[in-house]
Amino acid sequence: MNLLQCVQKLAARFEQADLFYGHGTDNAWDEAIYLVFTVLGIAFEQEPQEGDDLTLETQEISEADLKHIQALAEQRIKLRLPMAYLVKQAWFAGLPFFVDERVLVPRSPIAELILSQYEPLLESAPNRVLDLCTGSGCIGIATALVFPSAQVDLADISVDALAVAQRNIEQHGLTDRVRAIQSDLFSGLLGTYDLIVSNPPYVSADEVAGLPAEYHHEPVLGLVSDDDGLAIPLQILRNAPAFLSEHGMLVLEVGYSWELLARRYPDLPVLWLDFDSGGEGVFAISRDALIRAVW
Ligand SMILES: C[S@@+](CC[C@H](N)C(=O)[O-])C[C@H]1O[C@@H](n2cnc3c(N)ncnc32)[C@H](O)[C@@H]1O
Repeated sequence: MNLLQCVQKLAARFEQADLFYGHGTDNAWDEAIYLVFTVLGIAFEQEPQEGDDLTLETQEISEADLKHIQALAEQRIKLRLPMAYLVKQAWFAGLPFFVDERVLVPRSPIAELILSQYEPLLESAPNRVLDLCTGSGCIGIATALVFPSAQVDLADISVDALAVAQRNIEQHGLTDRVRAIQSDLFSGLLGTYDLIVSNPPYVSADEVAGLPAEYHHEPVLGLVSDDDGLAIPLQILRNAPAFLSEHGMLVLEVGYSWELLARRYPDLPVLWLDFDSGGEGVFAISRDALIRAVW
């Protein structure tokens, strides 16, 4: 079987199986490409499109690789496991990250902000950055790579998640300036940061219960927050000023809980960010604005 036939066959199979997409891809074709290309170690830029001059048609897949791909595809369908957990790799801000069930599959729209070096939010490149609720470390590590002089702390309450983050720090060659710290929100942290960026849990337990099966393979600790999802984001907002430097900035994702937050605290002077590649519920607020705000 050639590579194109394999992708077509898998895409049809995924389509039939009525999978849920939302962990890196949003359709059966891309999911099949994700699987086949990752197993074969092919760069995603080589993706064949229907109607193209399909050079990959001539590339044969070995019997062993085909068996491996088919076995993973069956697990994807039967167990409804996100593909990232099966191939142990997720892409974020154009970078590969090791992932498994100890961490959420990276998908935050903050990736787009990182690639634009947080334009136009920061007055200058930050010296100290905190990625709070770091999971795989994707946000902090990608931020470290766009700010080559920054010292970056990756904080999470979960020792399991931090083991994955540490593996990614090493994979990206950043052990000299990125460290993984166990901390219940800010409790284990010292000093101030020029930038605090966080994609914390912000989904209510009821909503999580109603999510498609794929989400139930992710750590509950990474998703659920009390008070209709707002408990952890509000704790971060209240405590951030003490951990921000004079001109420091907080970037916080609250996803679709943004409506509730905006309704409850209409006077909180946050700047909601727009993303070209989709996603919502991320805002920025400076230390100064947070301190002066009455909310
Ligand atoms: C939504 S996941 C985000 C992971 C990563 N930032 C990303 O964007 O893929 C939230 C993370 O917050 C961590 N977490 C939950 N409660 C926490 C707390 N009280 N203090 C620190 N981290 C916490 C979870 O372990 C999980 O790794």
